[in-house]
Amino acid sequence: MKVIVAKDYEDMSARACEIMVKSVKENPRAVLGLATGSTPLGLYRNMIRDHQEKGTDYSRVKTANLDEYAGLDKEHEQSYAYFMKHNLFDGLNIDLANTNIENGTAADAAAECARYNALLEELPRDIQVLGIGSNGHIAFNEPNTPFGSETHVVDLAESTIRDNARMFSDIAEVPRRAFTMGLKNIMNAKKILILANGANKAQAVYGLVKGEVTERVPASVLQLHPDCTLIADEGAASLLTEQTK
Ligand code: F6R
Repeated sequence: MKVIVAKDYEDMSARACEIMVKSVKENPRAVLGLATGSTPLGLYRNMIRDHQEKGTDYSRVKTANLDEYAGLDKEHEQSYAYFMKHNLFDGLNIDLANTNIENGTAADAAAECARYNALLEELPRDIQVLGIGSNGHIAFNEPNTPFGSETHVVDLAESTIRDNARMFSDIAEVPRRAFTMGLKNIMNAKKILILANGANKAQAVYGLVKGEVTERVPASVLQLHPDCTLIADEGAASLLTEQTK
């Protein structure tokens, strides 16, 4: 795994943007795997600024998102579909028909998981953006998710519900279940770009880079990926001893 230690959140976001823009410039038909949450917001702001100032073209780019809350419609302000539209897609010249995410309100959850797995097979991701949970989760693959997992519905860990409550007016409103790409789907991306900021992620980042490869720490599976880059700010990287500036 390539480890880049960024000075701060802005530096992390700028470096991540350089990598994403390079992928799109090298391949205007790139398939981007995307994440939600606080971590990639700066990356997305930088991608929008780059598109507006330098004209990077997203008209033929396709995307696949990691996860979606079960029960939330795409118009719900806390849904990840809404997040992506408002924090990234509206700022780019991307065709919304080329963007993909699980349908949180699908009546038949098993059929929705099968549909998304088939879509991911047809749409191999050139680069997959990830954040990391404080418990080492990636997407919503909580500790002890099998490395061989594909898209599935998950009961969110209490720690994840607490972490995500800041986005809702009341913790009781945080959905308890979500659709998520599995670890096998994530590992199938050609390149992985995982971002982490803040000291509250330091333990998870240690497990990602230096810990035992174990299903107890889902992110540790990325040690087995042939092309994975971590960009962590100094807080998130604080438990790593060998650092690459
Ligand atoms: C979001 C996702 C999650 C987040 C993780 C970190 O699509 O898959 O794994 O990346 O929970 O969230 P933040 O960035 O809010 O700290």
